[in-house]
Amino acid sequence: MNAQLTPAGTNPELDAFWMPFTANRQFKAHPRLLARAQGMYYWTADGRQVLDGVAGLWCVNAGHGRREITEAVTQQLTTMEFAPTFQMGHPIAFELANRLAGIAPPGLDRIFFANSGSESVDTALKIAIAYHRARGAAQRTRLIGREKGYHGVGFGGMSVGGMINNRKFFGSSMLPGVDHLPHTLDIERNAFSHGLPQWGAQLANELERLIALHDASTIAAVIVEPVSGSAGVVLPPVGYLKRLREICDKHDILLIFDEVITGFGRVGKPFAAQAFDVTPDLMTTAKGLTNGAIPMGAVFSQRKIYDAFMQGPENSIELFHGYTYSAHPVACAAALATLDIYLKEGLLTRAASLSAHWENAVHSLRGLPHVIDLRNYGLIGAVEMEPRQGKPGARGFDVFLKCFERGVMVRQTGDTIAMAPPLVIEPAQIEHLVETLGQVIRETA
Ligand SMILES: Cc1ncc(COP(=O)(O)O)c(C=O)c1O
Repeated sequence: MNAQLTPAGTNPELDAFWMPFTANRQFKAHPRLLARAQGMYYWTADGRQVLDGVAGLWCVNAGHGRREITEAVTQQLTTMEFAPTFQMGHPIAFELANRLAGIAPPGLDRIFFANSGSESVDTALKIAIAYHRARGAAQRTRLIGREKGYHGVGFGGMSVGGMINNRKFFGSSMLPGVDHLPHTLDIERNAFSHGLPQWGAQLANELERLIALHDASTIAAVIVEPVSGSAGVVLPPVGYLKRLREICDKHDILLIFDEVITGFGRVGKPFAAQAFDVTPDLMTTAKGLTNGAIPMGAVFSQRKIYDAFMQGPENSIELFHGYTYSAHPVACAAALATLDIYLKEGLLTRAASLSAHWENAVHSLRGLPHVIDLRNYGLIGAVEMEPRQGKPGARGFDVFLKCFERGVMVRQTGDTIAMAPPLVIEPAQIEHLVETLGQVIRETA
Protein backbone atom coordinates (compact mmCIF):
# COMPACT_ATOMS: atom_id res chain seq x y z
CA MET A 1 0.00 0.00 0.00
CA ASN A 2 1.16 3.47 -0.85
CA ALA A 3 1.82 5.11 2.48
CA GLN A 4 2.16 8.60 0.94
CA LEU A 5 0.59 11.22 3.13
CA THR A 6 -1.15 14.30 1.74
CA PRO A 7 0.08 17.68 2.97
CA ALA A 8 -2.77 17.60 5.49
CA GLY A 9 -1.18 14.50 6.97
CA THR A 10 -3.80 12.03 5.80
CA ASN A 11 -3.61 9.14 3.39
CA PRO A 12 -6.59 8.96 1.01
CA GLU A 13 -6.07 5.24 0.55
CA LEU A 14 -7.02 4.75 4.19
CA ASP A 15 -10.18 6.86 4.11
CA ALA A 16 -12.76 4.28 3.01
CA PHE A 17 -12.29 1.81 5.88
CA TRP A 18 -14.24 3.12 8.88
CA MET A 19 -12.20 1.35 11.49
CA PRO A 20 -13.85 -0.28 14.53
CA PHE A 21 -13.00 0.84 18.07
CA THR A 22 -10.25 3.03 16.60
CA ALA A 23 -9.25 6.67 16.72
CA ASN A 24 -9.66 6.84 12.92
CA ARG A 25 -8.07 10.26 12.41
CA GLN A 26 -5.06 9.50 14.58
CA PHE A 27 -4.57 6.11 12.95
CA LYS A 28 -4.89 7.41 9.40
CA ALA A 29 -2.36 10.13 10.10
CA HIS A 30 0.06 7.62 11.66
CA PRO A 31 -0.92 4.16 10.38
CA ARG A 32 0.14 1.00 12.17
CA LEU A 33 -0.16 -1.57 9.42
CA LEU A 34 0.45 -5.24 10.13
CA ALA A 35 1.37 -7.23 7.04
CA ARG A 36 2.49 -10.69 8.09
CA ALA A 37 2.54 -12.95 11.14
CA GLN A 38 4.29 -16.08 12.33
CA GLY A 39 4.51 -17.69 15.75
CA MET A 40 4.72 -14.99 18.43
CA TYR A 41 5.34 -12.16 15.97
CA TYR A 42 3.78 -9.76 13.53
CA TRP A 43 5.72 -7.89 10.88
CA THR A 44 4.64 -4.40 9.93
CA ALA A 45 4.15 -3.27 6.34
CA ASP A 46 7.59 -1.63 6.55
CA GLY A 47 9.21 -4.84 7.77
CA ARG A 48 9.53 -4.31 11.53
CA GLN A 49 9.10 -7.34 13.82
CA VAL A 50 6.52 -6.88 16.61
CA LEU A 51 6.07 -9.27 19.53
CA ASP A 52 2.37 -10.05 19.89
CA GLY A 53 1.53 -9.39 23.53
CA VAL A 54 -2.20 -9.74 23.09
CA ALA A 55 -2.74 -12.78 20.81
CA GLY A 56 -4.05 -10.55 18.04
CA LEU A 57 -7.14 -9.52 19.99
CA TRP A 58 -7.20 -12.26 22.63
CA CYS A 59 -7.77 -14.90 19.96
CA VAL A 60 -4.59 -16.33 18.44
CA ASN A 61 -3.95 -18.69 21.33
CA ALA A 62 -1.81 -21.17 19.37
CA GLY A 63 0.32 -18.47 17.80
CA HIS A 64 0.27 -17.19 14.25
CA GLY A 65 0.56 -18.92 10.92
CA ARG A 66 -0.44 -22.41 12.02
CA ARG A 67 0.00 -24.57 8.94
CA GLU A 68 -2.48 -27.20 10.17
CA ILE A 69 -5.29 -24.65 10.25
CA THR A 70 -4.41 -23.31 6.82
CA GLU A 71 -4.44 -26.81 5.39
CA ALA A 72 -7.75 -27.73 7.02
CA VAL A 73 -9.38 -24.54 5.76
CA THR A 74 -7.96 -24.99 2.26
CA GLN A 75 -9.12 -28.58 2.15
CA GLN A 76 -12.62 -27.65 3.31
CA LEU A 77 -12.90 -24.81 0.81
CA THR A 78 -11.98 -27.25 -1.93
CA THR A 79 -14.40 -29.94 -0.74
CA MET A 80 -17.45 -27.84 0.16
CA GLU A 81 -17.21 -24.11 0.76
CA PHE A 82 -20.67 -23.71 2.24
CA ALA A 83 -23.60 -25.79 3.35
CA PRO A 84 -26.72 -24.59 5.15
CA THR A 85 -27.49 -25.70 8.68
CA PHE A 86 -31.15 -24.67 8.61
CA GLN A 87 -33.04 -27.96 8.19
CA MET A 88 -29.84 -29.43 6.68
CA GLY A 89 -26.54 -30.48 8.17
CA HIS A 90 -22.99 -31.39 7.31
CA PRO A 91 -20.79 -33.87 9.15
CA ILE A 92 -18.03 -31.70 10.54
CA ALA A 93 -20.53 -29.44 12.32
CA PHE A 94 -21.61 -32.45 14.39
CA GLU A 95 -18.03 -33.62 14.80
CA LEU A 96 -16.99 -30.20 16.09
CA ALA A 97 -19.93 -30.00 18.52
CA ASN A 98 -19.00 -33.42 19.90
CA ARG A 99 -15.35 -32.47 20.23
CA LEU A 100 -16.24 -29.25 22.04
CA ALA A 101 -18.62 -31.09 24.36
CA GLY A 102 -15.66 -33.35 25.19
CA ILE A 103 -13.61 -30.50 26.68
CA ALA A 104 -16.53 -28.56 28.16
CA PRO A 105 -17.32 -28.10 31.85
CA PRO A 106 -19.71 -30.75 33.23
CA GLY A 107 -23.06 -30.98 31.45
CA LEU A 108 -22.45 -28.16 28.95
CA ASP A 109 -22.72 -30.52 26.03
CA ARG A 110 -25.20 -28.89 23.68
CA ILE A 111 -23.54 -26.43 21.34
CA PHE A 112 -25.12 -23.64 19.27
CA PHE A 113 -22.87 -22.00 16.68
CA ALA A 114 -22.58 -18.30 15.88
CA ASN A 115 -19.95 -16.15 14.15
CA SER A 116 -18.55 -13.90 16.85
CA GLY A 117 -18.55 -13.20 20.53
CA SER A 118 -21.32 -10.65 20.13
CA GLU A 119 -23.52 -13.14 18.35
CA SER A 120 -22.77 -15.80 20.93
CA VAL A 121 -23.84 -13.43 23.68
CA ASP A 122 -27.08 -12.46 21.97
CA THR A 123 -27.73 -16.14 21.29
CA ALA A 124 -27.22 -17.05 24.95
CA LEU A 125 -29.48 -14.24 26.17
CA LYS A 126 -32.22 -15.32 23.77
CA ILE A 127 -31.86 -18.98 24.75
CA ALA A 128 -32.15 -18.02 28.43
CA ILE A 129 -35.37 -16.10 27.91
CA ALA A 130 -36.89 -18.71 25.61
CA TYR A 131 -35.89 -21.48 28.03
CA HIS A 132 -37.94 -20.02 30.84
CA ARG A 133 -40.86 -19.58 28.46
CA ALA A 134 -40.56 -23.21 27.35
CA ARG A 135 -40.90 -24.20 31.02
CA GLY A 136 -43.98 -22.06 31.54
CA ALA A 137 -42.20 -19.06 33.14
CA ALA A 138 -42.65 -16.58 30.30
CA GLN A 139 -42.50 -13.64 32.69
CA ARG A 140 -38.80 -14.31 33.34
CA THR A 141 -37.33 -11.91 30.81
CA ARG A 142 -35.09 -9.64 32.87
CA LEU A 143 -31.34 -9.86 32.38
CA ILE A 144 -28.69 -8.88 34.90
CA GLY A 145 -25.25 -7.83 33.69
CA ARG A 146 -22.47 -6.06 35.52
CA GLU A 147 -20.78 -2.68 35.50
CA LYS A 148 -17.60 -2.73 33.39
CA GLY A 149 -18.86 -5.88 31.67
CA TYR A 150 -18.14 -6.30 27.97
CA HIS A 151 -20.38 -8.63 26.05
CA GLY A 152 -19.86 -7.40 22.53
CA VAL A 153 -21.73 -4.83 20.57
CA GLY A 154 -25.10 -6.30 19.62
CA PHE A 155 -28.08 -4.64 21.27
CA GLY A 156 -28.30 -7.50 23.76
CA GLY A 157 -24.61 -7.50 24.62
CA MET A 158 -24.51 -3.72 24.78
CA SER A 159 -27.49 -3.66 27.14
CA VAL A 160 -26.11 -6.17 29.63
CA GLY A 161 -22.63 -4.71 29.21
CA GLY A 162 -21.43 -2.02 31.54
CA MET A 163 -18.72 -0.05 29.76
CA ILE A 164 -19.86 3.53 29.67
CA ASN A 165 -18.50 4.51 26.26
CA ASN A 166 -20.04 1.47 24.64
CA ARG A 167 -23.47 2.56 25.85
CA LYS A 168 -23.71 6.31 26.14
CA PHE A 169 -23.62 7.14 22.42
CA PHE A 170 -26.63 4.99 21.72
CA GLY A 171 -29.16 6.78 23.85
CA SER A 172 -31.89 4.73 25.35
CA SER A 173 -31.88 2.10 22.60
CA MET A 174 -31.14 -0.68 25.05
CA LEU A 175 -33.09 -3.79 25.94
CA PRO A 176 -35.68 -3.03 28.57
CA GLY A 177 -35.62 -4.82 31.90
CA VAL A 178 -31.87 -4.98 32.35
CA ASP A 179 -30.05 -4.23 35.58
CA HIS A 180 -26.41 -4.38 36.59
CA LEU A 181 -24.36 -5.76 39.44
CA PRO A 182 -21.50 -3.62 40.75
CA HIS A 183 -18.11 -4.37 39.25
CA THR A 184 -15.42 -6.03 41.32
CA LEU A 185 -12.47 -3.70 40.72
CA ASP A 186 -11.41 -2.18 44.03
CA ILE A 187 -7.95 -0.70 43.76
CA GLU A 188 -8.05 0.80 47.24
CA ARG A 189 -8.44 -2.60 48.85
CA ASN A 190 -6.92 -4.97 46.33
CA ALA A 191 -4.12 -3.13 44.50
CA PHE A 192 -1.17 -5.32 43.52
CA SER A 193 -2.93 -8.58 44.43
CA HIS A 194 -1.06 -11.56 43.08
CA GLY A 195 -3.70 -13.53 41.22
CA LEU A 196 -7.26 -13.23 42.47
CA PRO A 197 -8.05 -10.42 44.91
CA GLN A 198 -8.95 -11.56 48.41
CA TRP A 199 -11.48 -8.86 49.12
CA GLY A 200 -14.87 -8.66 47.48
CA ALA A 201 -16.72 -12.01 47.42
CA GLN A 202 -19.58 -10.25 49.22
CA LEU A 203 -20.12 -8.05 46.14
CA ALA A 204 -21.97 -11.07 44.73
CA ASN A 205 -24.59 -10.54 47.43
CA GLU A 206 -25.70 -7.47 45.52
CA LEU A 207 -27.50 -9.96 43.33
CA GLU A 208 -29.83 -10.68 46.26
CA ARG A 209 -30.59 -6.97 46.41
CA LEU A 210 -31.48 -6.84 42.70
CA ILE A 211 -33.59 -9.95 43.10
CA ALA A 212 -35.45 -8.35 46.00
CA LEU A 213 -36.00 -5.25 43.88
CA HIS A 214 -37.24 -6.96 40.72
CA ASP A 215 -38.51 -10.25 42.15
CA ALA A 216 -36.86 -13.49 41.09
CA SER A 217 -39.90 -14.47 39.06
CA THR A 218 -39.05 -11.75 36.50
CA ILE A 219 -35.35 -12.58 36.05
CA ALA A 220 -34.12 -14.92 33.31
CA ALA A 221 -30.36 -14.80 33.66
CA VAL A 222 -27.25 -13.23 35.06
CA ILE A 223 -24.34 -12.77 32.66
CA VAL A 224 -20.76 -12.08 33.72
CA GLU A 225 -17.27 -12.58 32.35
CA PRO A 226 -15.41 -14.83 34.81
CA VAL A 227 -12.42 -12.56 34.10
CA SER A 228 -13.15 -9.47 32.09
CA GLY A 229 -10.61 -8.29 29.58
CA SER A 230 -11.97 -5.34 27.66
CA ALA A 231 -12.60 -3.22 30.74
CA GLY A 232 -8.90 -3.45 31.53
CA VAL A 233 -8.75 -6.90 33.17
CA VAL A 234 -11.07 -7.17 36.13
CA LEU A 235 -10.64 -10.29 38.25
CA PRO A 236 -13.25 -12.04 40.36
CA PRO A 237 -12.47 -11.89 44.10
CA VAL A 238 -11.89 -15.29 45.70
CA GLY A 239 -15.27 -16.98 46.23
CA TYR A 240 -17.25 -14.40 44.22
CA LEU A 241 -18.28 -16.61 41.30
CA LYS A 242 -19.28 -19.49 43.62
CA ARG A 243 -21.50 -17.11 45.52
CA LEU A 244 -23.15 -15.90 42.29
CA ARG A 245 -23.79 -19.52 41.37
CA GLU A 246 -25.43 -20.23 44.74
CA ILE A 247 -27.72 -17.23 44.52
CA CYS A 248 -28.74 -18.06 40.94
CA ASP A 249 -29.52 -21.65 41.97
CA LYS A 250 -31.56 -20.50 44.94
CA HIS A 251 -33.77 -18.36 42.69
CA ASP A 252 -33.88 -20.52 39.58
CA ILE A 253 -31.99 -17.91 37.56
CA LEU A 254 -29.64 -19.02 34.79
CA LEU A 255 -25.99 -18.12 35.12
CA ILE A 256 -24.19 -17.28 31.87
CA PHE A 257 -20.41 -17.10 31.74
CA ASP A 258 -19.10 -15.05 28.87
CA GLU A 259 -15.88 -16.91 28.10
CA VAL A 260 -15.11 -15.20 24.82
CA ILE A 261 -11.64 -14.31 26.08
CA THR A 262 -11.17 -16.84 28.87
CA GLY A 263 -12.13 -19.85 26.76
CA PHE A 264 -9.58 -22.17 25.19
CA GLY A 265 -6.76 -22.12 27.66
CA ARG A 266 -6.30 -18.48 28.59
CA VAL A 267 -6.58 -19.17 32.33
CA GLY A 268 -4.83 -22.53 32.50
CA LYS A 269 -7.83 -24.81 31.96
CA PRO A 270 -9.90 -25.19 28.81
CA PHE A 271 -12.44 -22.78 30.31
CA ALA A 272 -12.53 -20.44 33.30
CA ALA A 273 -15.54 -22.38 34.58
CA GLN A 274 -13.14 -25.27 35.21
CA ALA A 275 -10.42 -23.05 36.65
CA PHE A 276 -12.88 -21.57 39.17
CA ASP A 277 -14.82 -24.80 39.62
CA VAL A 278 -18.10 -23.04 38.97
CA THR A 279 -20.32 -24.41 36.23
CA PRO A 280 -22.61 -21.98 34.45
CA ASP A 281 -25.84 -22.89 32.65
CA LEU A 282 -24.71 -21.28 29.42
CA MET A 283 -21.25 -20.35 28.27
CA THR A 284 -20.39 -18.09 25.35
CA THR A 285 -17.17 -18.50 23.38
CA ALA A 286 -15.54 -17.27 20.16
CA LYS A 287 -11.99 -15.96 19.51
CA GLY A 288 -9.70 -18.87 20.50
CA LEU A 289 -12.23 -21.34 19.10
CA THR A 290 -10.60 -21.03 15.67
CA ASN A 291 -7.35 -19.44 16.79
CA GLY A 292 -8.77 -16.27 15.24
CA ALA A 293 -8.31 -17.69 11.74
CA ILE A 294 -11.98 -17.73 10.72
CA PRO A 295 -14.79 -15.94 12.57
CA MET A 296 -16.81 -18.31 14.72
CA GLY A 297 -18.66 -18.35 18.03
CA ALA A 298 -20.16 -21.16 20.07
CA VAL A 299 -22.65 -21.18 22.93
CA PHE A 300 -22.35 -24.14 25.26
CA SER A 301 -25.63 -25.07 26.92
CA GLN A 302 -26.55 -27.37 29.76
CA ARG A 303 -28.38 -30.37 28.42
CA LYS A 304 -31.42 -29.58 30.59
CA ILE A 305 -31.84 -26.32 28.68
CA TYR A 306 -31.69 -28.02 25.29
CA ASP A 307 -34.08 -30.72 26.51
CA ALA A 308 -36.60 -28.13 27.65
CA PHE A 309 -36.95 -27.00 24.04
CA MET A 310 -37.41 -30.53 22.66
CA GLN A 311 -41.16 -30.68 22.94
CA GLY A 312 -44.21 -30.21 20.74
CA PRO A 313 -44.70 -31.78 17.30
CA GLU A 314 -41.52 -33.41 16.09
CA ASN A 315 -41.45 -31.47 12.84
CA SER A 316 -41.73 -28.06 14.50
CA ILE A 317 -38.69 -25.84 14.85
CA GLU A 318 -37.83 -25.64 18.54
CA LEU A 319 -35.75 -22.43 18.59
CA PHE A 320 -36.40 -19.64 16.11
CA HIS A 321 -32.84 -18.44 16.02
CA GLY A 322 -29.75 -19.04 13.90
CA TYR A 323 -27.33 -17.46 11.47
CA THR A 324 -26.73 -18.25 7.79
CA TYR A 325 -23.16 -19.01 8.82
CA SER A 326 -23.91 -20.98 12.02
CA ALA A 327 -21.45 -23.88 11.85
CA HIS A 328 -19.99 -22.64 8.57
CA PRO A 329 -18.02 -25.61 7.24
CA VAL A 330 -14.81 -23.62 6.78
CA ALA A 331 -15.03 -22.30 10.33
CA CYS A 332 -15.72 -25.83 11.59
CA ALA A 333 -12.62 -27.07 9.77
CA ALA A 334 -10.56 -24.27 11.32
CA ALA A 335 -11.93 -25.03 14.78
CA LEU A 336 -11.24 -28.77 14.49
CA ALA A 337 -7.65 -28.13 13.38
CA THR A 338 -7.27 -25.60 16.20
CA LEU A 339 -8.54 -28.09 18.78
CA ASP A 340 -6.08 -30.68 17.46
CA ILE A 341 -3.23 -28.24 18.00
CA TYR A 342 -4.43 -27.24 21.46
CA LEU A 343 -4.63 -30.87 22.55
CA LYS A 344 -1.43 -32.06 20.89
CA GLU A 345 0.62 -29.19 22.31
CA GLY A 346 -1.06 -29.07 25.72
CA LEU A 347 -2.08 -25.45 25.17
CA LEU A 348 -5.35 -25.67 27.07
CA THR A 349 -3.36 -26.01 30.28
CA ARG A 350 -0.05 -24.38 29.37
CA ALA A 351 -1.05 -21.07 30.93
CA ALA A 352 -1.18 -22.83 34.30
CA SER A 353 2.44 -23.91 34.05
CA LEU A 354 3.56 -20.45 32.93
CA SER A 355 1.42 -18.47 35.33
CA ALA A 356 3.92 -18.24 38.22
CA HIS A 357 6.58 -16.94 35.87
CA TRP A 358 4.06 -14.59 34.29
CA GLU A 359 2.89 -13.32 37.68
CA ASN A 360 6.46 -12.51 38.73
CA ALA A 361 7.13 -10.74 35.46
CA VAL A 362 3.96 -8.63 35.68
CA HIS A 363 4.61 -7.70 39.32
CA SER A 364 8.20 -6.73 38.54
CA LEU A 365 6.62 -3.49 37.24
CA ARG A 366 5.61 -2.48 40.75
CA GLY A 367 7.09 0.84 41.78
CA LEU A 368 7.34 2.26 38.25
CA PRO A 369 6.09 5.83 37.85
CA HIS A 370 2.29 6.22 37.77
CA VAL A 371 1.63 2.48 38.17
CA ILE A 372 -1.27 2.17 40.61
CA ASP A 373 -2.17 -1.49 40.18
CA LEU A 374 -0.94 -4.72 38.61
CA ARG A 375 -3.29 -7.60 37.97
CA ASN A 376 -2.65 -11.12 36.73
CA TYR A 377 -4.38 -14.44 36.28
CA GLY A 378 -3.54 -17.32 33.95
CA LEU A 379 -1.80 -15.69 31.00
CA ILE A 380 -3.58 -12.38 31.47
CA GLY A 381 -1.89 -9.32 32.87
CA ALA A 382 -2.75 -5.68 33.35
CA VAL A 383 -0.92 -2.54 34.36
CA GLU A 384 -3.13 0.26 35.56
CA MET A 385 -1.67 3.76 35.52
CA GLU A 386 -2.82 6.93 37.11
CA PRO A 387 -4.59 9.12 34.53
CA ARG A 388 -3.05 12.45 33.60
CA GLN A 389 -4.97 15.27 35.13
CA GLY A 390 -7.99 16.08 32.95
CA LYS A 391 -6.82 13.67 30.25
CA PRO A 392 -8.07 10.18 31.01
CA GLY A 393 -6.64 7.59 28.64
CA ALA A 394 -3.84 9.83 27.30
CA ARG A 395 -1.08 8.13 29.26
CA GLY A 396 -2.35 4.68 28.35
CA PHE A 397 -2.48 5.60 24.67
CA ASP A 398 1.07 7.00 24.73
CA VAL A 399 2.38 3.84 26.36
CA PHE A 400 0.56 1.69 23.82
CA LEU A 401 2.01 3.69 20.90
CA LYS A 402 5.54 3.68 22.26
CA CYS A 403 5.42 -0.06 22.92
CA PHE A 404 4.43 -0.58 19.31
CA GLU A 405 7.31 1.62 18.15
CA ARG A 406 9.60 -0.57 20.28
CA GLY A 407 8.29 -3.74 18.69
CA VAL A 408 5.75 -4.92 21.26
CA MET A 409 1.99 -4.98 20.75
CA VAL A 410 -0.18 -4.60 23.84
CA ARG A 411 -3.78 -3.49 24.29
CA GLN A 412 -4.90 -0.25 25.87
CA THR A 413 -8.16 0.50 27.64
CA GLY A 414 -8.15 3.94 29.20
CA ASP A 415 -4.99 4.07 31.30
CA THR A 416 -4.75 0.33 31.62
CA ILE A 417 -2.45 -1.78 29.48
CA ALA A 418 -3.62 -5.36 29.05
CA MET A 419 -1.51 -8.30 27.97
CA ALA A 420 -2.70 -11.73 26.86
CA PRO A 421 -0.05 -13.27 24.64
CA PRO A 422 -0.44 -16.42 22.56
CA LEU A 423 -0.23 -19.43 24.86
CA VAL A 424 2.89 -20.62 23.01
CA ILE A 425 4.92 -17.76 24.48
CA GLU A 426 8.34 -18.70 25.87
CA PRO A 427 9.69 -17.34 29.17
CA ALA A 428 12.31 -15.20 27.39
CA GLN A 429 9.55 -13.60 25.34
CA ILE A 430 7.57 -12.89 28.52
CA GLU A 431 10.63 -11.07 29.84
CA HIS A 432 11.02 -9.12 26.63
CA LEU A 433 7.35 -8.13 26.62
CA VAL A 434 7.28 -6.97 30.22
CA GLU A 435 10.71 -5.32 30.16
CA THR A 436 9.83 -3.31 27.07
CA LEU A 437 6.57 -2.22 28.69
CA GLY A 438 8.49 -1.28 31.84
CA GLN A 439 11.02 0.83 29.89
CA VAL A 440 8.24 2.61 28.06
CA ILE A 441 6.35 3.34 31.29
CA ARG A 442 9.56 4.77 32.81
CA GLU A 443 10.02 7.07 29.83
CA THR A 444 6.41 8.21 29.60
CA ALA A 445 5.56 11.16 31.76
C1 LIG B 1 -16.13 -11.18 27.05
C2 LIG B 1 -16.40 -10.79 25.64
N1 LIG B 1 -17.61 -11.02 25.13
C3 LIG B 1 -17.91 -10.70 23.86
C4 LIG B 1 -16.97 -10.13 23.05
C5 LIG B 1 -17.35 -9.75 21.66
O1 LIG B 1 -16.74 -10.57 20.73
P1 LIG B 1 -16.73 -10.14 19.18
O2 LIG B 1 -15.85 -8.94 19.06
O3 LIG B 1 -16.19 -11.37 18.50
O4 LIG B 1 -18.14 -9.87 18.79
C6 LIG B 1 -15.69 -9.88 23.54
C7 LIG B 1 -14.66 -9.27 22.69
O5 LIG B 1 -13.61 -8.85 23.12
C8 LIG B 1 -15.40 -10.20 24.88
O6 LIG B 1 -14.20 -9.94 25.43
